[in-house]
Amino acid sequence: MTIANLEQAPHHVVAVVPAAGRGVRMGGATPKQFLSLGGIPLLVYSLQTLDAVESISEIIVVIPEADRQYCQEAVVDRFDIQKVTHIVPGGRRRQDSVRNGVLAFQNQPDFVVVHDGVRPFVSREIVEQAVKSACMHGASLVAIPMKDTVKRVNEHGVVAETLPREQLWLAQTPQVFRYSWLVEAHKMAEEKNIDATDDAGLIEQLGYPVTIVQGSSLNMKMTRPEDLALGESILLSRTTQESQ
Ligand code: C5P
Repeated sequence: MTIANLEQAPHHVVAVVPAAGRGVRMGGATPKQFLSLGGIPLLVYSLQTLDAVESISEIIVVIPEADRQYCQEAVVDRFDIQKVTHIVPGGRRRQDSVRNGVLAFQNQPDFVVVHDGVRPFVSREIVEQAVKSACMHGASLVAIPMKDTVKRVNEHGVVAETLPREQLWLAQTPQVFRYSWLVEAHKMAEEKNIDATDDAGLIEQLGYPVTIVQGSSLNMKMTRPEDLALGESILLSRTTQESQ
């Protein structure tokens, strides 16, 4: 199938949710994907959103080995996430976790949505846009334009370069890929010993085009304790808006 006619075919779309990090920047003993946001585990939000996206038929969650049962009971069963078919153990790096998830599908899908389990505020619309764009072009990446000016700084703490802001975007997730491209990308990373903080970076190295889909500043990654405080206030403002 050529890229041009991808959009006409019915697609088998699945999701992988890497949530196997230890969250060292967050501090504390609980992995950040299980920390409480609005009284429920943070991971629940993104799973509920993916569960509600009609084109996604199956979700695989990637979790630290020790937390698999907890995730099944306290997240998937308790919040009735319908489309989770497997909870698989993660790896040392994020890319190892994604790979474990991608290779766990029993029926080979056409497209894979990769979404960080610690981005609770992704909207259904953004996921749908990213899926649509990948179905048309082969790979899509949700991102937002840079608001601030970015400097490249040398090892002495001196500015080496001011980068052209209009060309700079901050990568978020979801990132959606043709399954065959993603498998090829992870194989290449393993063979060539490449470290990548996101999957789109690997797809780019293979020379495939990755199309941008406009994200949202609300779709932030919960990384530090102050992000959780911000998350609580986002939830609060939503509740206030809904009750008006
Ligand atoms: O570490 P980082 O903040 O980039 O993590 C992004 C996502 O990848 C998180 O949801 C985290 O749980 C997941 N991750 C993973 N396996 C790792 C490291 C991170 O699934 N080894």
